[in-house]
Amino acid sequence: MSGVVNRYSLAHLFPARRHTVGMLVLLASAILTPLMAQEQSVNPGINRYYYDAQFERWRKVFERKDREVYDRRHDIVAALALKTGMFVADVGAGTGFFSLMFAEAVGPTGKVYAVDISENFVNNILRRARKQGLENIVGIVSTQKDPLLPPGSVNVVFLCDTYHHFEYPQTMLASIHEALRPRGQLIVIDFRKQHGASSDWVMSHVRANETIVQKEIEGSGFTLISRSDLLRSNYFLRFTKTTGPR
Ligand SMILES: C[S@@+](CC[C@H](N)C(=O)[O-])C[C@H]1O[C@@H](n2cnc3c(N)ncnc32)[C@H](O)[C@@H]1O
Repeated sequence: MSGVVNRYSLAHLFPARRHTVGMLVLLASAILTPLMAQEQSVNPGINRYYYDAQFERWRKVFERKDREVYDRRHDIVAALALKTGMFVADVGAGTGFFSLMFAEAVGPTGKVYAVDISENFVNNILRRARKQGLENIVGIVSTQKDPLLPPGSVNVVFLCDTYHHFEYPQTMLASIHEALRPRGQLIVIDFRKQHGASSDWVMSHVRANETIVQKEIEGSGFTLISRSDLLRSNYFLRFTKTTGPR
C-alpha cells in the first residue's frame, strides 16, 4: 500500500468523508502553521564572537572612552528615571556596566536581570556585582530567541546596542512583550544609520535604521511614547507595552 495520504485515500477510509477530511485538514494546518511561521535569522552569525567571549577583551571594547553610550552612561541612566523597587531587564547586557548601575538605582527592594546569550559575560557580571556588594542582580544565560524572563516580571526592558544583534527580532519582541508588566516600558538605544552621516562600519554592520526598527517594534504590540535627542550617534526610543490583544 502506498504511504502517500491524499484526499481520495482519506475519503475511502472514512465514511463521513467530507467532515473527516475537513477535520484532518484543520488539524494538519494547526500543526504546520506554527512551524511554517518560524522566523528565519535576519543576520546569521552576527553573534558568533560572543559565545566564547573573553570578558576582559570585550570590556576594553564596550567600556572605552569615546564610545558614546559608555561616555554618556550616567545621563542615560538618569533619563530612565528608575525608581526604588523597580524590576529591570538589561537584555544583551554584555560586560554589565548598565546592569550594575541599574542595580544601584533600584535598590535592594528592586531587581535587575542581566540577560545575555554569553555565559561568560553573565558569570562576570555576577562576579562584579558580588565585588560591589550588590545582591539584587540575577544573571540569565538566554537563547537567541528568548530572554527567558519570567512572564509579567519587569517594569523596564533595556536594549543598548543590542536590537541590531537580534537574529530573530520578531520572536524576541514577542518574548519581551510577555515579560513586561502592564504599562511596562521597552527602551531601545542603537546606532543611527544614515547615508552620508554614519561610518562605513555602521552602514554595513547595523541591519536597520531607526524608522525600520520603530516600525518592527510597533508591529509587535508596543507604542512609541518618546524619542530622546540625548545622544548624537545613537537614537534613544521609549515604547510602552500596548495592552489588550496584539
Ligand atoms: C554590542 S553588545 C552590547 C552590550 C551592552 N548592551 C553594551 O551596550 O555595552 C550586544 C550584546 O547582545 C548580546 N546578544 C545578542 N543577541 C542576543 C539575544 N537574542 N538575547 C540576549 N543577548 C543577546 C551579545 O551577546 C552582546 O553581549
